[in-house]
Amino acid sequence: MYRLGMGSAVSVSGVQWLSGCMKHDMNPGSNAYVTVVEAEFGQALPLPSTVFNPEGYTLRAGRTSANILAGKSSPVLSYTPNALLAPLFRVEKGRRFKVQVNNQTGEKSNVHWHGLLIPATMDGHPEATITNGDTFPVEFVVNQRAGTYWYHPHPHGATGRQVYMGLAGLLIVQDDEEAALGLPKGEYELPLLLSDKRLTTAGVLQYNPSMSEIMTGFMGETVTVNGVAGVVHEVAPTLYRLRVLNASNARIYNLGFSQSQTFTVIGSDGGLLAAPRQVSNLLLSPGERADLLVDFSSFKDQSVLLRSETFTEGGEAQGQQAFSVMKFMVSKKGDSGSRIPSALPSITALPGPATTRTFTLDMANGSGGHGGHGSGKGMHRINDKVYDAKRVDQVVKAGDTELWIFDNSNGDEPHPMHLHGVQFRVIGRTGARSVQPHESGWKDTVLVAPGEVVRVQMAFPSHPGRFVMHCHNLEHEDDGMMLQFEIK
Ligand code: C2O
Ligand code: CU
Ligand code: CU
Repeated sequence: MYRLGMGSAVSVSGVQWLSGCMKHDMNPGSNAYVTVVEAEFGQALPLPSTVFNPEGYTLRAGRTSANILAGKSSPVLSYTPNALLAPLFRVEKGRRFKVQVNNQTGEKSNVHWHGLLIPATMDGHPEATITNGDTFPVEFVVNQRAGTYWYHPHPHGATGRQVYMGLAGLLIVQDDEEAALGLPKGEYELPLLLSDKRLTTAGVLQYNPSMSEIMTGFMGETVTVNGVAGVVHEVAPTLYRLRVLNASNARIYNLGFSQSQTFTVIGSDGGLLAAPRQVSNLLLSPGERADLLVDFSSFKDQSVLLRSETFTEGGEAQGQQAFSVMKFMVSKKGDSGSRIPSALPSITALPGPATTRTFTLDMANGSGGHGGHGSGKGMHRINDKVYDAKRVDQVVKAGDTELWIFDNSNGDEPHPMHLHGVQFRVIGRTGARSVQPHESGWKDTVLVAPGEVVRVQMAFPSHPGRFVMHCHNLEHEDDGMMLQFEIK
C-alpha cells in the first residue's frame, strides 16, 4: 500500500493510481518531483579559499548575494562576503582547531562539524544555538583519520532552510599516512560541493517546501557545483582527485561520467577505504562524501561530463531522470604525477558489539497528522518518536561497540541516516543491494533506501554528552526525524 498519504492512492494489481499533488507533473513548485533543468555549462568552477590550521579565524555567517545563475544576483546566506562558497578548512591531524563563529544572519544559527569526533559542547547540537550578533568560540583537537568532512548550521527546525540558502563548507583533515600515498594535489585535487537549488528566472533562491515536499524533501531544478550553476572546468589529461560532498537538502545523485569513464573510489565519509575500488557509478545521498580518482588521460581535447544516472532507490520522487552535473574540458597541459595506489592504509576491525539497537524509520501512523492540511510536523519518525530536545532516547557507553539497525523495510522514502560524534562501519544491508564499494570504509551517513534494513557498527568515543542521530534529508530532519543519544 502506498503510504505517503498526500493524495489518495490505491494500489490495483501492482499499479499505483495517484491523484492530487503526488502526480508527477514535473512542475517545480507545485509538486514533489522536480525535474533538473541543465544549465548551459559556461561558468567557471569556483574554488574555495583555504584556511590552513585555523587558530582564531572568524567564520562569519551572514546575508549576502551571489551569482548562482550567470549574471543574476541571488540573495543568500553565506560564510563568505559576496560569494556563496564557504572557506575550506584544512587541518592536520593532531592540531588544535580554533574558530570564532560570528552569527550575522539575523536569526539564530550555529555550526555543526559533520563527521568530526569532538566533544558534545563543540558539536553544534540543535539546541546549542548562537543568537544573532553573538560569537561562539569553537575549539577542539582534530584527532581522527584524514578525510573529507564538512560544516553547516544545525538550529532545530531551520537547518534545512539555512543550509539551502547557502551555509555549508568543507573541512579536510590531512595526515602522514595519506600524504605518503602521493595522491593528486594542488590544482589536481578538486573539492566539489553539490547542491540543487530552486531559482526564479530572476535568479532568486526559493525555499518554500509544500506539504508534499516535507514528505519527499525539497529539491531544486538547478544543480550547482561550488555554488554555481552550469559549471565547466578545464583539466589536463591526467589523474585527478575529486572530493565530492552532497550538500543538497534531499536530492540523491547516482554519480558517474560520460564516455563510459569508470573511476576509482578511494574514500568516503570517514577517510580512505581499506582498498581502492573501481566503479562506474555511485549513489551519494545528502550528507555523504566520496573521494574519487578520475583519469582524464584518454580524453585529450574532449569533454567529459559528471553525470547523475537514473536509479531505483529513490522512492517516488527521485531517480527517474538522468542529467549532467558539470563539464570537464580536457584542454589543459599538465600532469599530476600520481597513480592510483594499489593499496590503502588498513582499517582496524571493531570488536563484536556489546549492544544491538533497532531503529524503525516510519511515517506517522493513524489518522490525522498527515492528511495534507496539518502543520507537517512530526510526519517522519524513528521508532514512532519525533525529536524532543528534553528527551534522551539512547544512552551508550564510551568505548563500547554497538550494532545499530536502521529498518526501512516498510518505508517508501529514502533516508540517509547520520550520527553525530562517531564514525561507523556499514556491515550489512538487506534488500536488492548489498554494502556498496564506497561504503566499505568509515561512514557517518548511510543511505537506507525504501525496503532496506541497514546494519552499522561503531565504537563510541570518550566524549561524554548528548549527540543527535537523524535523517540527513533536511526536511525530514526539521520535521523531527531525529533522536538524541548520550555518551556516558
Ligand atoms: Cu550534517 Cu546533524 O548533520
Ligand atoms: Cu553531523
Ligand atoms: Cu528521511
